[in-house]
Amino acid sequence: MKFLSLLVSVLATGSTVAFAPSKIASSRTAVSRMNMAASEELYIDEERRFLMNLILLGSAGITVGAIAIPYIAFFVPPGSGGDGGGVSAKNALGDDLFATAYLTEKPAGDRSLAQGLKGDATYLIVKDDKTLETYGLNAVCTHLGCVVPWSAANNKFMCPCHGSQYAPDGHVVRGPAPLPLALAHCDTAEDGKIIFSTWTEEDFRTGGKGWWN
Ligand code: FES
Repeated sequence: MKFLSLLVSVLATGSTVAFAPSKIASSRTAVSRMNMAASEELYIDEERRFLMNLILLGSAGITVGAIAIPYIAFFVPPGSGGDGGGVSAKNALGDDLFATAYLTEKPAGDRSLAQGLKGDATYLIVKDDKTLETYGLNAVCTHLGCVVPWSAANNKFMCPCHGSQYAPDGHVVRGPAPLPLALAHCDTAEDGKIIFSTWTEEDFRTGGKGWWN
């Protein structure tokens, strides 16, 4: 009996010893699988985070761009659209004006509005010899900014807002306007387009520096 119990004990101890390495190995495998799963999850998380950051950056970039580009464009002067750094005169439809065609349809002494520098309404002047005057007149009243119409019957520019009047060359003949209408150079480009450019020289009506410079 004693022998039998001894044998059982030996066998039990033997089996424990026999199976111990395999248990350790299997537990190691499980741990390593868990580690792999954890690192895979970490990798996927990082991938998602990277993707989310990209989306966030992209949408932020689009939003900032949509706000910033028009803001910056506001401060950039309009493109030349013509020769020599000027802008081509345009009609009410935004089409370029060509001197020959323009002078064919306008009578001598005509003062009609065109789109000029910075989009300002500017008078083109047809001289008595049916050529274009070398300057244009900005139609914005120097009192409070109304657009001043030309009155052919009175041979003056007459502001409807507060009664200011300007001579055919734009100098003030009646207040409250304090300053003459601003000048712009008016030339014809090689391709025939009428071009306005900035008048930086002396104002020939006052003999002084142009107030708009
Ligand atoms: S805005 Fe022209 S007179 Fe006042």
